[in-house]
Amino acid sequence: MIECKHLSYSYQDFQLNEIEVLKDISFKIDKDEKVLLLGINGSGKSTLLKLLNGLLFAKNGEYYFKNELVNKSYLKANSKEFRKSVSLGMQDPSSMLFNPSVYDEIAFGLKHFGFDDIDERVHHYAKKFEIQSILKSSPLSLSGGQKQKVLLASLLCVEPEVLLLDEPTAHLDPPTTGWLVEFLDSLNVTAIISTHNISLGKELAKRAIVIGANHEIIYDGGVQALLEDMPTLIKAQLVHKHKHNHEELEHKHYHLHSWV
Ligand SMILES: Nc1ncnc2c1ncn2[C@@H]1O[C@H](COP(=O)(O)OP(=O)(O)OP(=O)(O)O)[C@@H](O)[C@H]1O
Ligand SMILES: [Mg+2]
Repeated sequence: MIECKHLSYSYQDFQLNEIEVLKDISFKIDKDEKVLLLGINGSGKSTLLKLLNGLLFAKNGEYYFKNELVNKSYLKANSKEFRKSVSLGMQDPSSMLFNPSVYDEIAFGLKHFGFDDIDERVHHYAKKFEIQSILKSSPLSLSGGQKQKVLLASLLCVEPEVLLLDEPTAHLDPPTTGWLVEFLDSLNVTAIISTHNISLGKELAKRAIVIGANHEIIYDGGVQALLEDMPTLIKAQLVHKHKHNHEELEHKHYHLHSWV
């Protein structure tokens, strides 16, 4: 479904120096496979998801979607089909919400892609995310978690083949997080999900790709095997040390548990 071959990407800094933020990224993802994308702040996760969504183009290397090379000319010719198939939920939901009401926000993609059961789908997904009572509200007036739910409803209602979710649980409360994890598990969809909440890892996917601080892939394999691989977790800085007490004894050691 998705194949990246030796992708690299760099941004320009204010002095127009090229700063490489993804290096030699290669992987293949099968149809309906779900993959966790892990790495510390600034490692390049969001940049990679934007490349896979055709919002950025690699400086070197190739990205294939369904065996087609995705470049500017491919997107020019196949923009609608590609955008319907590959949906990105960005890290900051506010940056993606621009319609006057939640109803319009969810209906937007459905109208754009020519669905004929728009009203039914809006209500169906609003019910799933328990946002029926705010359908008339302005998306900008909502809480962080409500915005996240509206964004997810607007992405899922067009039933994309590939879901790229950038920290989808960051603003969600525990019940909604639990619900989303189960919901994603029930969907037959190819998904790449970035998260800092590694404790959700096994629930979200069987496979993890870890980008290191060096912006290269430093692990691609099973989530369970990763959780048992302390040297890789330390290298990826996916574990943290903090002080805590065992009765009289105060000490520090590595922890995998989430802070939330
Ligand atoms: N538009 C931009 N212009 C210049 N540099 C950028 C831009 N976007 C991201 N960067 C830089 O690219 C690097 C990778 O950023 P990216 O957002 O992909 O990281 P991330 O892994 O998603 O981090 P986080 O966990 O904080 O979301 C960072 O050093 C960041 O400063
Ligand atoms: Mg990010």
